[in-house]
Amino acid sequence: MKHFFSVLIIISFISLPIFAQDVSVEKGKFRVGDNAAWAGVNVDESAWRDITNTSTWTSQGVKCENAFGWYRYHVTIPKSLLDKSDLKETVDFIMGKIDDADEVYLNGKMIGKTGSFPSDPKGYEGKWNTLRQYRVKSNSDLIRWDADNVLAVRVYNAGDPGGMFQGPVIVRVPNTIDNLSISISEGAKGKEQGGSQCVCTLTGQMSATKSGIFTVQVQDPETGKVLAEKSQNVSVNAKKNRTISMPYDNHSMVRIIATFTESKSGLSTTTKYIPKYILTPAAPAEPRFNTTPLYGVRPDSPIHFRFGVSGEKPMKFSSDDLPKGLTLNPDNGALSGSLEEVGSYTFTVKAKNAKGEQTQRFTIRCGSKIALTPPMGWNSWNCWGLSVTQDKVISSSKALIEKGLADYGYCYMNIDDGWEAPKRNDDGTIAVNEKFPSMKELGDWLHSEGLKFGIYSSPGDLTCGGYLGSIDHELQDAESYNSWGVDYLKYDWCGYGRKHRTEPDNKTVASYVRPYLLMERCLRQQPRDIFYSLCQYGMAEVWKWGHAVDANSWRTTGDITDTWESLYDIGFCQQPELYPYAQPGHWNDPDMLIVGKVGWSNNLRDSRLTPDEQYTHISLWTLLASNMLIGCDIAQMDEFTVSLLCNNEVNAVNQDILGKQAQRVVLDGSIQIWSRPLSDGSYAVGIFNVGKDDARVDFKKYFKEMGIGTLKSVRDLWRQQDLSTSDVNYFIPTHGVKYLKIR
Ligand code: GLA
Repeated sequence: MKHFFSVLIIISFISLPIFAQDVSVEKGKFRVGDNAAWAGVNVDESAWRDITNTSTWTSQGVKCENAFGWYRYHVTIPKSLLDKSDLKETVDFIMGKIDDADEVYLNGKMIGKTGSFPSDPKGYEGKWNTLRQYRVKSNSDLIRWDADNVLAVRVYNAGDPGGMFQGPVIVRVPNTIDNLSISISEGAKGKEQGGSQCVCTLTGQMSATKSGIFTVQVQDPETGKVLAEKSQNVSVNAKKNRTISMPYDNHSMVRIIATFTESKSGLSTTTKYIPKYILTPAAPAEPRFNTTPLYGVRPDSPIHFRFGVSGEKPMKFSSDDLPKGLTLNPDNGALSGSLEEVGSYTFTVKAKNAKGEQTQRFTIRCGSKIALTPPMGWNSWNCWGLSVTQDKVISSSKALIEKGLADYGYCYMNIDDGWEAPKRNDDGTIAVNEKFPSMKELGDWLHSEGLKFGIYSSPGDLTCGGYLGSIDHELQDAESYNSWGVDYLKYDWCGYGRKHRTEPDNKTVASYVRPYLLMERCLRQQPRDIFYSLCQYGMAEVWKWGHAVDANSWRTTGDITDTWESLYDIGFCQQPELYPYAQPGHWNDPDMLIVGKVGWSNNLRDSRLTPDEQYTHISLWTLLASNMLIGCDIAQMDEFTVSLLCNNEVNAVNQDILGKQAQRVVLDGSIQIWSRPLSDGSYAVGIFNVGKDDARVDFKKYFKEMGIGTLKSVRDLWRQQDLSTSDVNYFIPTHGVKYLKIR
């Protein structure tokens, strides 16, 4: 969990409200170590230090990494809490967020656990970003009313900063209305309106039955106009939920508002939600070229490229003037072969299907540079984590083709951590584990489809996942990658940190450069192009020297996760200064995409980003000329995610051959405008609303600041529609974007 502090600043704004009848506890006692007896009531705390739960333990001077620490709190729970609640059924212990996994004991007995510890059967799982709320029945003997209660918290931290950090702990006896919640999910497609349907579920966490009116509205968020409404008299309790299903058109933005008003108290609870909506227009049935007509290769290096063409299948590919040494597969548009001489090779490719044909002029620049535009593809980490297998890579690759993502230029299929065997072969070469029967066959198959093959390692002894790294075997590993047909290496610092700490010059930039330069020399000895991706989280300002080790991209931040806080911190806070360092062949990498089904394990879930946050994510990443590596299981990708990733006009910004990364040109409260020049003389402009309320933005207001004189044209990139040049007043929902191309 890197770059955690800037995330903290944001989440502190969203801490829980404290009700008058709550008891809040901020100060406790703390000790590093692990002892089951510390859960008990009678523990000698004289050797324990003071601590608060409002900031991490590192920030309070505690050193405790890959280890346990315990907190103990003494809290009096007044019986009057019960009198103030109309429900009186439970006592809730709201612990805040805890980095990384915890168990909580009340007077010696465990009342809740989140995440898991290394010694647990399923192994370690951190949940630093999850709010802990544990519940005890109010008639339980565990609670000592009007007396001292001991809350003991056992915490395991896998990486600094560690501990409880979103206190105070709140002890609450909830009211009926606190115990009623409404969740809104997207159900199976509704037949009505040819769109989708949402399912609103009212749940009550109490045994007593409560009655009231449950109303669901579909609203136009821009005008507030109610487009549809359903209302029902309902009764709920812990055993009886109520649902209302509501159809809506999923091609425009709507807000679903579900409200329950309890009859007796008149109190109500409301949940609002903007479901997934698709803006990208369907591709025409005729062939349409979607990939950049420019490709860099070194002399004699094997070429693996697939022309990205959407349209009805089957499609046939041909060329009358293919440069010598190259072959074009007529059925899938895969280009292979190699070029001997340095130079620029331009030729015409034709794609033809039952509906029509289209041609594209295409240039291969054979010279010293590859990755003339940022890489597009997939990486296994954000979905499968360490549970990646060869079968899972193949299934996402097949889906990449079947669902049409390959028609938009996604081509790298990258295995992240988790493929290495525990021991090297006797001759020192790297061995693969049982999940990967044959790297060579996998590479050959990917190449036959015109796709590319990527792999992961570390300059250290161990990778972040604890697998074997490349230290002292760099050349041997580069040779193995070559023999398997690897086209991309992500080289992740991780275990190297231990060696680095012992080096006398470890404060110098040279000490950070060293392991990366070493691998670069080994890679460049191989008779093939291998995209070189540095992953060291931005240390020693890697963007300033990444190109000097001939890296094709470098991670600029710690790991991304699928929350707005993470996206905001990485995308909006950590990138503004980095634009001067991106250029064709060398790109800033703010980490992989967090759309679709992710999970970093075998348990996948829908990305927790809202639809507008996902539009923001893809818009910003294309503006940033970032690597576009899909992080989800493509086999399970839904229509919405395909539409996000396959908008040819949006992707064209990312792949623009000028290769200029966007600058933030306006910072006005929660409105930010990022802009980049494009090779056709126009500009891509993202107007972002990072605030928590919807906004109306008069774009004109910023013309002077942005150096805009007269607007000649405005195009909405997501909708692929030309807009008025005079009326430039836009509605931008919370965490959403208006993505334009202007002249
Ligand atoms: C680090 C990297 C991630 C991923 C994991 C694998 O955390 O930053 O992107 O590669 O290691 O263990």
